[in-house]
Amino acid sequence: MPVAGLGTRFLPATKAQAKEMFTVVDRPLIQYAVEEAAASGSNEIVLVSAPGKGAILEHFSVDAALERTLAERGKSALLEVVEHAGRLAEVSAVMQGEPLGVGHAILQAREAVGDEVFGVAFPDDFILAETPVLEQLRRVHAERGGIVVAVEPVPEDRVDQYGVIEGAEVADGVYEVSRLVEKPPVDEAPSNLSIVGRYVFPASIFEWIERTGTGAGGEYQITDAMQAALRAMPCHAVVFEGTRYDCGSRLGFLQASVAVARRDPEMAGPLAEWLSTLD
Ligand code: UTP
Repeated sequence: MPVAGLGTRFLPATKAQAKEMFTVVDRPLIQYAVEEAAASGSNEIVLVSAPGKGAILEHFSVDAALERTLAERGKSALLEVVEHAGRLAEVSAVMQGEPLGVGHAILQAREAVGDEVFGVAFPDDFILAETPVLEQLRRVHAERGGIVVAVEPVPEDRVDQYGVIEGAEVADGVYEVSRLVEKPPVDEAPSNLSIVGRYVFPASIFEWIERTGTGAGGEYQITDAMQAALRAMPCHAVVFEGTRYDCGSRLGFLQASVAVARRDPEMAGPLAEWLSTLD
């Protein structure tokens, strides 16, 4: 999970605090992502972190003193949520010295991943889904191999803000990708299926990231590496089931918070009542 970005869209909040630790109702974004990965069968999570972002890894360590205090005070419900966060998966971190893009962040996990097929999730692409999206991708990978990426339809006049795919539908909501394009002009876009921050990669992707090097903005663009890798392996795009909120943006973050609160039995009623009083 790459968590080493600068989060400039949230400045000044991200000056001294990681965006990935922003809280949607009662859990930080990173915990939702780790929960999704754990529910998809990943029991080892590698964070690609940056100096000053130590709180992210710390969130997943066992805090024995806190657990003891909560136990002594009889706060069993709180103890349970604290224990849950610390025991979700084996979480470790590697460092990205400079934020040179998502491709570069993924490359930092090369040694930790080894030869295994692995998943990537951007914690700020927050997704509410019945079946965790990484699990939806994992199933397609099991059937078809290669790279699998999540996509969602976006309004056609806004495709120039996204990475989009070109492909042929080979099963319900599954496309065999023939091309990936980063931010195409609206009249040249091959589709309106935009790439979302969930991927399954074979370990050979590291080679392609390295070989592809830097692209737009002097960053290692993962889309460019995937495009290059098409020569050697299949890539499938999955129109996932679920709702995505762009928690890298202020409005998306607010919408995610409202969506989660509306699903909470204690908050849903009072929230709806309060919202109805707004003009
Ligand atoms: P974003 O594209 O949202 O970039 O990264 P960002 O830097 O976090 O935010 P803005 O655009 O400046 O507001 C998607 C995910 O990839 C990580 C981020 O931490 C986020 O989880 N990332 C991004 C890295 O780990 N390293 C990078 O070099 C860039």
